Order: sequence, then C-alpha cells, then structure tokens
Amino acid sequence: MASQESQMQVMDGANGASSDEPASKRVKLDTPMQDSQDAPEIQKTDRVKGVAPIKQEYLILAPGQTGAAEENAAMDDDAAEGRTAPNPSDKRDARDARDGGGRDGRRKKQKGGQNKEREFGTFSDAIRLCNSVAWTPEFSPRPCKQGERCNGLHDLRKYLKEGRRADLETFGGKCPVWETHGRCSSGWRCLFVSSHMQEIEREDGRKELVLTVDSTKVASGDDVEGDEAKPGVVNMVAPQVKVDLSRKKVDLNKSEAYLAWLGQDTERYRTHHHKQKGDEDVAKDYRAQYIEPPFKPSEKRRLYFGPETPTLAPLTTQGNLPFRRLCVELGAQVTYSEMALGMPLLQGAKADWTLMRAHQSEVTPPRYTPTSIIRDYDNAKDLKFGVQIAANIPWVAIKSTEALTRFLPHLRLVDLNCGCPIDMVFKTGAGSALLDSPSKLERMIRGMNAVSDDVPITAKIRMGVRDDKPTAQKLIERLAFGSPEMRDTAGAPGCAAITLHGRSRQQRYTRAADWSYIAECAALIKSYEKKSDELADTIREADANTLPNGGKMYFLGNGDVYSHVDYLDHVEKAKVDSVMIGRGAIIKPWVFEEIEKGQYLDKSASERLTYIEKFARYGLEAWGSDELGVNFTRRFLLEFLSFFTRYVPIGLLEYLPPSINERPPAYRGRNDLETLLASKNYKDWIKISDMFLGPAPAEFKFQPKHKSNSYEIEAEG
Ligand SMILES: Cc1cc2nc3c(=O)[nH]c(=O)nc-3n(C[C@H](O)[C@H](O)[C@H](O)COP(=O)(O)O)c2cc1C
Ligand SMILES: [Zn+2]
Ligand SMILES: [Zn+2]
Repeated sequence: MASQESQMQVMDGANGASSDEPASKRVKLDTPMQDSQDAPEIQKTDRVKGVAPIKQEYLILAPGQTGAAEENAAMDDDAAEGRTAPNPSDKRDARDARDGGGRDGRRKKQKGGQNKEREFGTFSDAIRLCNSVAWTPEFSPRPCKQGERCNGLHDLRKYLKEGRRADLETFGGKCPVWETHGRCSSGWRCLFVSSHMQEIEREDGRKELVLTVDSTKVASGDDVEGDEAKPGVVNMVAPQVKVDLSRKKVDLNKSEAYLAWLGQDTERYRTHHHKQKGDEDVAKDYRAQYIEPPFKPSEKRRLYFGPETPTLAPLTTQGNLPFRRLCVELGAQVTYSEMALGMPLLQGAKADWTLMRAHQSEVTPPRYTPTSIIRDYDNAKDLKFGVQIAANIPWVAIKSTEALTRFLPHLRLVDLNCGCPIDMVFKTGAGSALLDSPSKLERMIRGMNAVSDDVPITAKIRMGVRDDKPTAQKLIERLAFGSPEMRDTAGAPGCAAITLHGRSRQQRYTRAADWSYIAECAALIKSYEKKSDELADTIREADANTLPNGGKMYFLGNGDVYSHVDYLDHVEKAKVDSVMIGRGAIIKPWVFEEIEKGQYLDKSASERLTYIEKFARYGLEAWGSDELGVNFTRRFLLEFLSFFTRYVPIGLLEYLPPSINERPPAYRGRNDLETLLASKNYKDWIKISDMFLGPAPAEFKFQPKHKSNSYEIEAEG
C-alpha cells in the first residue's frame, strides 16, 4: 500500500486558501474580522433555513432537494452525546473495553443479556504473546508469573512468524510511537516492530532479537518497558490504587468525617425547614443549632477564564486524549475529560480512571493576558486540563472528588456534570436531574469543595429540565451564594465557575441554543460580584475559602459555536467570560485557530487529512500500536470522522457565516479527497482509516452512533 504522503499528492488537486499563514500568538479581540476572499458578504435573505448554502456547481442533487441523512443529522447529536446510543436503554459502558477489562480483547459479560451496545469486534493476535517476553530481549525474558499454567506464547520467533499479522506499511512502515519517543510501549506486539528491532550476534555466535531504543529521544524518567508505560501521558494511576479502591481499602478520611457531619446537618436542616416553610424563625432556629463542619475547605488555586481561553467541552467518546491533544495543538486553552461516573471511580474501575489521563500538552498553563482586575491568579500554576464527574448523591460526588484529587497530580478543576440528558444518567438522579434538586446540588458542591484540597470545583448546567421552565437563573444564584440558611452559617458553596449550555434537557439539538438566556445569566452573575463583596463583609466569620477566585465566579456560555464570529459575538454581546465549544470542535478542530487568528480558514482537504493522520498517530501513542491499540485507534478515529466529515469547506459556500445548524445538500468537493472527506458513508470512513492504520481486520465492525451516517445510498449514488 502506498504511504499516505503519496496518496495525498495524488488525491489533492486544488489548493486551499489562507491556511499556511503563521499563527498569531494572541487573540486580538479588536481585530476586525476578515472573511475569506472566496466567499462574498453575508446575505441572510437568500438563505434557506437549515440548509447549508452550497454553490450551485458543487451540488449533486437538484437545488432544494436534501437527502434523508441531513434531516436526521441534528436529531442524532443526542444519540452521539450518550455513551451507548442509539438505544437509550443500553446500559453497557462503551468504554469498558478500551482499557482494563478489554485490554486483552475480552469483553465483560453483562447481567441480563442487555449488551445491545454497538459492537466493534474483538481484536487480538492469532496467538497471544506472554507478557514475560513482550518487552525484553529474546534471551532474557522476565520470569513468567503463570509458570506452568501459562497459555501465552514464550517463543518470540514463532510469535513474530505466526502469532500476529504482518507489519503495517503505513507511516512508511516506521513506528510512529518509536519515531517520536525513541521507544515503543507496545514492544514486540507493535505492528511496526520491524522498524525498531534488530538481530545481534552474541560472542558465543548465537543470534538474539532485541528491541532498539533511540536514547537521544527517550525522556528521563520514562518507563521503558511495560504495558502501563505511555510516554507523554500524565495522570496514570498505579494499578494497585485501583485494586485497593475495589477492595474498599482506600481511606477517604476527609470525606468520611465530612459526610458524618453532613448527615447530621441535613437532618437538622430538614427538620427545621419542614416545620414551617417560609417562617423567619425557622432560619433562626437552624442557625442557632448549627454545628461547624469538621474542617473548612482549603484555599483553592485560582482560575482564569477569559476571551483568550476558548474552551473545549467535555465530550463523551469524542473528547478522548488524542482528540484533545489535537485541539490543544490548534489553540484550545482549556480541556475537559470525558464524563466519568463517580461510583465506578470509587470502585476502582479501570475504564473510568483511564478517562482521567491527559496529554502533557494539557498540563501547560492556558493563555493569559495579565490585567489588573484578576486577583491573585497565578498563571504559571494553572493548567488546561480539568475532569468531569457525574454523581447522583452527595457521598458519591464527595468521595470521588477526594479520590480524584488525591490520586491525580494534574487537575485544573473537578467539574460536576449537571447537564447530561441521557436516560441512563438522568433516571438515577445524576446529570441534568440535579437541575431539579438544588439543595442536593448545593450539598454536593459544598462537600466537594471541602475535600478537594486546592483543586477548584465547578459545575456545568443546562437551562433546565423542561423547555417551558428554565431554572438556571435560580440555580446560579444558589451556586453563587447558597441557600439563605447555609449562607449565614457556612458561607458560600464555593463554586469557582459555571458553564451554561443554552438548552433544556428536553430540547433536542434541532433547535438553536438560547444565547439571550445565557446573556441574562451572565448579567445576573456580574451583578453578584458586587453583592458577594458585600456578603463577604457581612457573613458571620466570612471565610475567603468559600469565595473562590477572590469572590469571582467565572461564567462560560456554551452552544452552537462554530467559528470565531460566533465566539467573539458571544464574548462581546452575551458578555460571558469565555465560551465552551463542543460539536464545532469535532467537526472543525481548527475553530480554535480561527479564534486565535480572528478569521475563517479554508482548510484544504490535504490539510484536513493531516489532522486525521495526527489523530491516528496520537491514538497509537495513547492506546498502543499493537493489534488492540491500532483497532481502538481505528474505532475512535471513525467516531471522530462521523463528525469531521460534516464540515462543509467554506470555499464551497455561497454565503458566510457557516452555521453548525445547517446541513449540506449532497455535494462534491473541489477534488476527490475533498469529496471523500464529505462522505456520509461509514465505509468511506473505514477507507480513510486504512490510509493510516492499514486494512481493518475481518472482525472489525463499526456502527456509527449517528444513525443517519449509515445511510449509504446517497453517498454511493
Ligand atoms: C458527542 C457528545 C458528547 C458529549 N458528552 C458530554 C459529557 O461527557 N459531559 C458534558 O457535560 N456534556 C457533554 N456533551 C455536551 C457538550 O459538552 C455541549 O454542552 C453541547 O454539545 C453543546 O455545545 P455545542 O453546541 O458546542 O456542541 C456532549 C455532547 C456531544 C455532542
Ligand atoms: Zn507466560
Ligand atoms: Zn512500535
């Protein structure tokens, strides 16, 4: 198979405009926006709602005709948001097999035969190589733990000949992990191993196979062998910690003490509250009986969110480490883990702890323009990467926060998910269900704040559960100040930032996010800054530790952002501190570069292909370049492509701005590669993955979460 470089040359005829300019380093908010020369001024009147205005010459169908695929695409973003879509009753965690239980290709059995989750097939070598020989020179294996009972292969030469597929020829046959890091954590199982092995003649004349290491590239401290060794990856938690968690051997003593107090306090609060609602004496009563918690929250690191920190949203499945690494490279300043569930974290589940890993580029400080207004923020101590958890009950939120902050050295913040709409989460009382349980939510945030040491606590919310009943404003007030009783006794809950997604749970992606509501909330929070200064003066024993960021609660807006124009518009008009971007970043990861440069970038198809190549490289680094790692990379690359192929090159558009809510009618690109990158047929996506990951094994299956994307007739027609 030809290398991807030569393929790109063959396929990419036309050149994209304006993508080779050097990146400017700072966001200039006052820079006038430059539209691409290709596209004329906005002419709203000519636009058909919901349909991307593609120039006539690129259309395949007659004007006005759209395929069924487009009609379903928006709706199916709901499916993509869930882990186990399209069937919302599916309970299986799609990530189980990415690490841990599935590392060797086995899949955990589900109770009740409910494994309706999309199957990707299992991938493993024909004959399994024993770990004792997987990273060592041929003549010096480690002792095999299984001894006599081991059914792994110990004969390296036999394994290389019969145990595995032939080496891949992509990346010029050179292991991309080894090329970057000077060693390869997949050892002899690497599907590019012939590029980093040698046969050496020993003094006695015997010939030994050894893995080569490029010591000029190996960073000091890098663990050179072993499955857990992943160069460039941080927040790796030792297997023993997970074992201890699963055996309940980890003493989460802060949480225990706090929860004991919380139990009593909640009881006191309830009794008084239920006696006589709204009675002045009730609050007084509660105050009189208030007992201090066992300890106070520690002082938190201060955060900063500003116009220069465009933020990548937490994205289940899509927001994996390789994808976030790509986004950071393209200018994302703040990143979030995929949502982890509190309970499995506490049980030591590998899959959920694996989600907490980050790339080293994510632990560098976010961009920051010093101004006098920001109090005591130390940019050098800040980092980009935060984690998100979901929990349905305070003790789960509190204990998992203590565990996260104890075992993960690189955390910007712990964010509590109060927006997840999917049934599986909602029905347990977590995610968006918390929007209707403000007291519970307040207790969670207070408790998380109490046990998280110096790590700030934040929340991500929606407008409300139901469309006709937005509750975010009340909730924001609650998160800023706490209930009146608690405020007087314990101070503010200590929420350092809130992100508001401008949709209700009920609302599907077909309707636009409500930025005027987001703007109202931003104004409300601005009005609090003064109030919180006043409160800080009047609250009994005002405690700075309950007022994060010196009393400033940051506010981010989220929803439908697809370009620098949307971004700047919201910063300026809605007056949010910063903007979080979800689907826009998956469809167009260089949206961050557009924001940085303040202009549209008409990326050529070959340039877009380099992003796919990067994803593949980063995937192999993160998940391994052995059979299993290659196919995990393939699976997540295909998930990425299910969004990435939705991008309509702006050079093909009749009018700007492009909108995330507009679907393209069937069209062809300016060259074959551009057409291929617009395909809605997942078989084409597999072809694209083949360019970098070699042919998919026969067992490989892919069923896109977007049902519409398996609609093939149009793409084949
Ligand atoms: C595929 C997908 C996965 C998501 N996963 C999460 C998640 O794990 N946690 C979360 O808070 N929101 C999640 N969301 C919601 C996004 O973070 C974001 O709030 C939403 O997509 C709206 O922003 P956008 O219009 O920029 O996409 C997800 C959304 C999508 C499309
Ligand atoms: Zn063995
Ligand atoms: Zn390798």
